[in-house]
Amino acid sequence: MFVARIALTVCLTLGVAGGTAMALSRTPENQDAAAPISSLPEGEGQALTAEVCGQCHSVGMFANQRKSRDEWNATIGRMIEKGMEAEEDELYAISDYLTEKLGKSDQAASIPS
Ligand code: HEC
Repeated sequence: MFVARIALTVCLTLGVAGGTAMALSRTPENQDAAAPISSLPEGEGQALTAEVCGQCHSVGMFANQRKSRDEWNATIGRMIEKGMEAEEDELYAISDYLTEKLGKSDQAASIPS
């Protein structure tokens, strides 16, 4: 009984604070539309990467990953095997973007701006 009342209080508090966000995310259509592009860091190549890498799955599935250039290139290679289509110069741009924005922290820091 006591535990239940605490849980209810927490729910109500969160409901007031996050009222707008909860109202938005409750609609299923919004969830898919809102997540993909905004989950990639801004920068040159963001739109291209979102477009090419978002064809088959959400870009959110890899936006939290951190890889070296070799590892991202290997990922790009695997996606090509799965049927990804892109021009060669687009692949280089995507590789640059992923390495710079979703690189391992020590590497990302060493890239001159
Ligand atoms: C032609 C469709 C397609 C495109 C385009 C595509 N992917 Fe994928 N991707 C897949 C499929 C299919 C899987 C496998 C999903 C699974 O493991 O269940 C996958 C899985 C992944 C995975 C997790 C498994 C792994 O091999 O690492 C990552 C990371 C990934 N994709 C990143 C990317 C990136 C980055 C791009 C853009 C360069 C991209 N994908 C574009 C189809 C695609």
